[in-house]
Amino acid sequence: MKKVGIIGIGEYLPKKVLTNADLERMVDTSDEWITTRTGIKERRLVAKDEATSDLAIKASEKALKDAKLKPEDLDLIIVATITPDMQFPSVACLLQSALKAKNAVSFDIAAACAGFIYALVTAQQFIAGGSYRNALVVGSEVLSSITDWQDRNTCVLFGDGAAAAVVSQVQSGGILASHLGVDGSFEELLKIPAGGSRMPASQKTVEQRMHYIKMRGNELFKHAVNLMVEAAELALQKASLNSSDVDLLVPHQANIRIIQAVAKRLRLRMDQVYLNIQRYGNMSSASAATALCDALTEGRIKKGDIVVLDAFGAGLVWGACVIKW
Ligand code: COA
Repeated sequence: MKKVGIIGIGEYLPKKVLTNADLERMVDTSDEWITTRTGIKERRLVAKDEATSDLAIKASEKALKDAKLKPEDLDLIIVATITPDMQFPSVACLLQSALKAKNAVSFDIAAACAGFIYALVTAQQFIAGGSYRNALVVGSEVLSSITDWQDRNTCVLFGDGAAAAVVSQVQSGGILASHLGVDGSFEELLKIPAGGSRMPASQKTVEQRMHYIKMRGNELFKHAVNLMVEAAELALQKASLNSSDVDLLVPHQANIRIIQAVAKRLRLRMDQVYLNIQRYGNMSSASAATALCDALTEGRIKKGDIVVLDAFGAGLVWGACVIKW
C-alpha cells in the first residue's frame, strides 16, 4: 500500500464575530457561564449571502495553493458536512464546479463532527489503493443555519467555518493508522428531528422549531470523553504507538472540559493539545480540520511529529487518525 499524507491545507472563517457578550443580549446566559462550562469566548457567523459551499471554496483554494496543485490535478473531492447548501446537489458537486476541478469525482460525507476524519480516511483508501492520485478533503459547516438562537442550551456552542486538506501519496510519514466507530442507538442524544423523509417540513415542524439542533448535552459529555479516548488509543495501537509517542493531539473542539478530560485519560499535558475552541466554538466537521490548519500555521507541528486527530459527534460517530508529519 502507498503512503498517504496531507500535502497542503487551508481554512476560511467568516468575518463576523459573535462574542459571549453578544449572546448575553440574545438569551439568558453569561460570559462567565459560557467560558467556564465550555471554554468558548467567541465564534464566527456567515454573512447573509454565504453558504457552506462558499466557505469550502475559499478554504480549498488556499489548500490547493499550499499544496502547489491546480484544480485539474484533483481526482477526488470529499466534503464532510451536515449543513449542505441544499439537500442536493451535494456541496462537493458545487465545489467541483466552482474550482473547475474537471477531472475530479466528488461526494459529501455526513459523519457530523467526525466528518473530516471519516473523509480523510476515505480519501486515504482511494489513494493507497491506486485509484486516485490527489484528493481534496474538506470540512465545511454553517451551523448557525441549524442553531436555535432562542435555546441557550445549544446556541452558545456552535459556529461557522471551513478547512480543506490536499491528500496525496507521500515519500515518508503520512497517515499511519486510524480507527472509526459508530453506534446509531444513540440517535436521540443529538439530532435535527424534521426536514428529512421521516418528518418533512411543514408549518407545524417550523412552529415547533423542529429544524434546529436538539441536544442532550450532559449525556453526550460522558460518551464524548470515553469514545475519544478509545478512538485515540485504538488508532495509536494500530500504529504500534502509545500516547507517550504523541507530540500533538488535535481534538474536535466541542467543549474544553471534554478535551481536558480526554487529555488527562491519555496522560497528555494540555501543552500537547491544540485548542481553537475559544475563538471558533464547535464547527462540527470543520473543528478538527481548522485546528490542524491553525496548529500548522502557528508552528506547533514539526516534521517527524506524531499528530493525533480525534473526534466524536451525532450518530454517535467517532474516529481518530494518527499522522506522522
Ligand atoms: N447559560 C446559562 N445557563 C445555562 C446555559 C447557558 N447558555 N445552558 C444551560 N444552562 C443551565 C441549565 O439550564 C442548567 O440549569 P439548572 O441546573 O437550573 O437546570 C445548568 O446550566 C447546568 O446545565 P447542564 O446541562 O448540566 O450543564 P453542563 O455543565 O453539562 O454543560 C454543556 C452543558 C452543553 C456545555 C455540556 O453538557 C456539553 O458540552 N456537553 C457536550 C455537548 C457536545 O459536545 N455537543 C456536540 C457534540 S459534537
